[in-house]
Amino acid sequence: MKIVVASSEAIPFAKTGGLADVASALSKALAEAGHEVSLFLPCYPQSIAKRGLNLDEFECCPEKVTISVGSKEVEASLRKTGFPGSNATVYLVEQPRYFDRPELYHEGGRDYQDNCERFIFFSRAVMAFTEKLNLKPDIIHSNDWQTGLIPALLKIEYQDRPGFEKTAAVYTIHNMAFQGQYWHWDMLLTGIDWKYFNRHQMEFFGQLNLLKTGIVFSQMITTVSPTYAKEIRTEQFGYGLHGVLDSHADRLVGILNGVDTTDWNPEIDPHIAANYSAQTVKEGKPLCKANLQERMGLPQKPDVPLLGAISRMTDQKGFSLILDAAENLLATDVQMVFLGTGDPYHEASFSELARRFPDKVSTLIGFDEILAHQIEAGLDIFLMPSAFEPCGLNQMYSLIYGTVPIVHEVGGLADSVVDASGDNLENGTANGFSFWHFDATVLYRQMRRAIDMYYDQPLWSQLMQNGMTRDWSWKHSAQNYLSVYQQALSFRANNAE
Ligand code: ADP
Ligand code: GLC
Repeated sequence: MKIVVASSEAIPFAKTGGLADVASALSKALAEAGHEVSLFLPCYPQSIAKRGLNLDEFECCPEKVTISVGSKEVEASLRKTGFPGSNATVYLVEQPRYFDRPELYHEGGRDYQDNCERFIFFSRAVMAFTEKLNLKPDIIHSNDWQTGLIPALLKIEYQDRPGFEKTAAVYTIHNMAFQGQYWHWDMLLTGIDWKYFNRHQMEFFGQLNLLKTGIVFSQMITTVSPTYAKEIRTEQFGYGLHGVLDSHADRLVGILNGVDTTDWNPEIDPHIAANYSAQTVKEGKPLCKANLQERMGLPQKPDVPLLGAISRMTDQKGFSLILDAAENLLATDVQMVFLGTGDPYHEASFSELARRFPDKVSTLIGFDEILAHQIEAGLDIFLMPSAFEPCGLNQMYSLIYGTVPIVHEVGGLADSVVDASGDNLENGTANGFSFWHFDATVLYRQMRRAIDMYYDQPLWSQLMQNGMTRDWSWKHSAQNYLSVYQQALSFRANNAE
């Protein structure tokens, strides 16, 4: 199959969260399975430089397109590169006026004011370059609100043009909380007729909604875990779009993300103090723990349980619960490490916690991918009590690194973490701790339960082994995407969406 993937971020070029990991890893897995994959993302020169890559080494493509964004005509050029060891092609859409900025979406806690315009431009550029490069895709797979306009463009402007006669749109929702919702006059920027600004299509309570646009115009909709696919059809998790999703439920599928095991694998990870496998975890992990304690300025105590988190510090990720539960737990002999950026309130509380308990807590406010690997390898227990979690990657990274997760039983956390209760321990599936009632006392009890089990070494080893030996790679999920692509193609062929 010929597959175009469109994403607003992808590692190693630009990353603010899990979407970046997924866009690249899925593209590589599909290419590995023998498909022709072109991944499009905006060219963010400052991010590329910060990440130690050299933009000048990426090939300049001769093709240029001019994109109409409202009344402006804006030129887009293109760079081409790839991933080491993969046949997937990466296209970076260049327009410095929109993308040559210090951050991807916001600075100093405020969104860039022209985000709607920037990603309408990007979405249109993806379609224009797909045509210009004659890619003739079977599937255009877009992700999140930033590329939600693409399915609409395919349906309204491109579907009868040469090269697009059979193309089907697949749209993946990574987070319902971010919808790309803008005032109605921004409809003019899309260049799409006002007749589509209605409550069944692009409009949502008087505003332009790009996530809804992606949902309604695609042949197939996916989200990043089976449980989240069910949850988002309910009022509690649907952020207002549960009705829309429920009415398109026959086209909605949940596929759990995989893990890029060339990047997240303790056997070959170049960033950690010692490499280890499920067989050598007992020797390797203590070295990583000692190294992490040293790096974070904590006393090197091998037998004290080390808990922590790496995350966007937002309410979604359950940081208020962690703070309250930590206050109680810190009366006992434990250590904690936190790495994250996000809401100033959470950043300040966790920095303050580290100041109050310098021998027990260490917090680093910032985005540090190397340290993230060292934390995954060095912790004993990973905390991920998210209020909601479409998939979540860190709990899976933790499982692979023999770090036992404590999670709130929602979304992808429910689909990957199996609670260490009687039956699950007996049948060898238990790999962590999960709780349902979203409350700090309940989290605290789970922490206590985990720490008690940590001191029961044979049981703890079993939990680690169960997590480390399951296959978390993309192989299985990529196959699921391929069957969704087939379904989308037959919907398109039968015009039955
Ligand atoms: P989300 O996309 O909702 O933020 P995920 O769990 O899917 O959550 O993915 C988050 C990704 O971003 C993980 O790869 C995680 O390691 C990474 N990450 C989050 N915060 C930081 C940080 N401060 N430093 C380094 N990596 C981070
Ligand atoms: C979003 C979700 C996260 C998911 C990631 C990648 O950022 O919040 O749960 O893992 O997308 O799909």
